[in-house]
Amino acid sequence: MNIAVFASGRGTNFSAVVRAVKAGKIKANLALLVCDNPGAQVVGRARRAGIKIALVTRKELSAKEEFENKIIAYLQECKIDLIVLAGFMCLLSSAFVRRYSGRIINIHPSLLPSFKGVQGIKDAFDYGSKVTGVTVHFVDEKMDHGPIILQGAVRIEENDTLESLEVKIHRLEHKLYPEAIRLFTEGKLRLEGRKVTIK
Ligand code: GAR
Repeated sequence: MNIAVFASGRGTNFSAVVRAVKAGKIKANLALLVCDNPGAQVVGRARRAGIKIALVTRKELSAKEEFENKIIAYLQECKIDLIVLAGFMCLLSSAFVRRYSGRIINIHPSLLPSFKGVQGIKDAFDYGSKVTGVTVHFVDEKMDHGPIILQGAVRIEENDTLESLEVKIHRLEHKLYPEAIRLFTEGKLRLEGRKVTIK
């Protein structure tokens, strides 16, 4: 099975997947990084790990369709079976999501459906939540919305700062995402409507 990770930023989740593949915890080939930001840290991580990089920027390809067609060409070339979104800050079109339905997963740093969007950790912290967490889910046509695969909770203690909470969330992400990918690649996830069951 061939996996593509889509990322736009730091790439710590990308590196967690690289480590899990190298350790044999995920028995699949991490074949491609798709990145829309040439200056992103994740590009250096992929280069060091020897993973093929597809840099596809929106600026040079003004139309979304053209942008996604370029990505699709890379996915076809690398025979990708699973798309792993890890901080990919471009919303994919409905047509793209439908094309890869059931084969795109995302990680989000909150307990969905609470605190969707680009700053899930900060929003839960500022709200005064006592518990937040991490969600891995299949991607559907709405943002941070599809069927939930795994969730993990993190307690927000009184002495937590936003920074200490971020550390706890990322630590949990780096366990949960490789685990969800392992389940997918071993054919252990069954998706029926909104419900995901683990065999
Ligand atoms: C992760 O915390 C991920 O949950 C979040 O982007 C971060 C990427 O970090 N994704 C979202 O907020 C999606 N709505 P990383 O680049 O270090 O892996």
